[in-house]
Amino acid sequence: MEGKYDSRNNLNDLTGKEWLLLTKSFWVSEKCADDKAAFEHPAPFLIKDIEKLISFFTKKGMTVLDPFMGSGTTAIAAYNLGRKGVGMDLSEAYRELALGRFEKKGMAENDYLYLIGDSTKDLAGLGPADYIVTSPPYHNILKNTSQGIRKDNSHKGYRSGSRKGVEYYSDLPNDLGNQKSYADFLALLAVVMKSCCRILKDRKYCTVIMSDFTVDRKEICVQGDIVRLMEESGFDFVGTTVLLQDNKPLYPFGYPYAYKINHMHQNMMSFRKKAQA
Ligand SMILES: C[S@@+](CC[C@H](N)C(=O)[O-])C[C@H]1O[C@@H](n2cnc3c(N)ncnc32)[C@H](O)[C@@H]1O
Repeated sequence: MEGKYDSRNNLNDLTGKEWLLLTKSFWVSEKCADDKAAFEHPAPFLIKDIEKLISFFTKKGMTVLDPFMGSGTTAIAAYNLGRKGVGMDLSEAYRELALGRFEKKGMAENDYLYLIGDSTKDLAGLGPADYIVTSPPYHNILKNTSQGIRKDNSHKGYRSGSRKGVEYYSDLPNDLGNQKSYADFLALLAVVMKSCCRILKDRKYCTVIMSDFTVDRKEICVQGDIVRLMEESGFDFVGTTVLLQDNKPLYPFGYPYAYKINHMHQNMMSFRKKAQA
């Protein structure tokens, strides 16, 4: 451990030096060998990135909730740091994938709780939580049929091709990724976040990880919408850490006619439960 631990620190187990480093407004995303098994899921977190968040927002023994648990990365990161990961997903297949990962890590049944359920209705049984970290399905972008330049062009040298397996999460109507409009998606996410706020302990933190994206070919400032939604759901915005993903493939979306951005980062937007929420 580098630096000194302050006995007044009631947020985490970090020394002052370690605390300061994690307040940087950008981090570089880090891979590890255990990430590989998650790539059957279309959009898993990387374990090391989530470990850093958990190390900042919790102490050993605390409970970390992910209402969109997918391949179980949050529970693995929590376990690696001596915390307990709890969460939920609609998909039996992703739970199975996660359980396979947990078994490989040697995680015992009481090291995690992974329920099958709908986070818009069933979250109450998972609380109380000390910290929430999650990434909701991005509206319906995985179902975007106008793939254009994004289809497999690996032979032309600009696709990493690290993902395999399913192209979108499910056909279930309450899957947030299946909402017809972006407004419907935001409305349903607000339901989940209000329920997250109820089961989060007083003045504790929640991080939502998303990148901006296009809806009907129009660039959307998703970050702005999420901050507004969270403020209306009982949280105060405390800052965005930009997670740089410099190894993603580049696509010439607008070339040679118009500027179209390549999103090479995620916004890790952190919030604190309002005092009166
Ligand atoms: C972006 S992924 C999360 C991936 C996860 N962070 C991981 O590391 O694997 C979003 C997940 O939300 C799930 N989901 C969508 N709608 C849901 C709902 N209403 N309740 C629970 N889970 C839902 C999807 O099945 C999908 O696995």
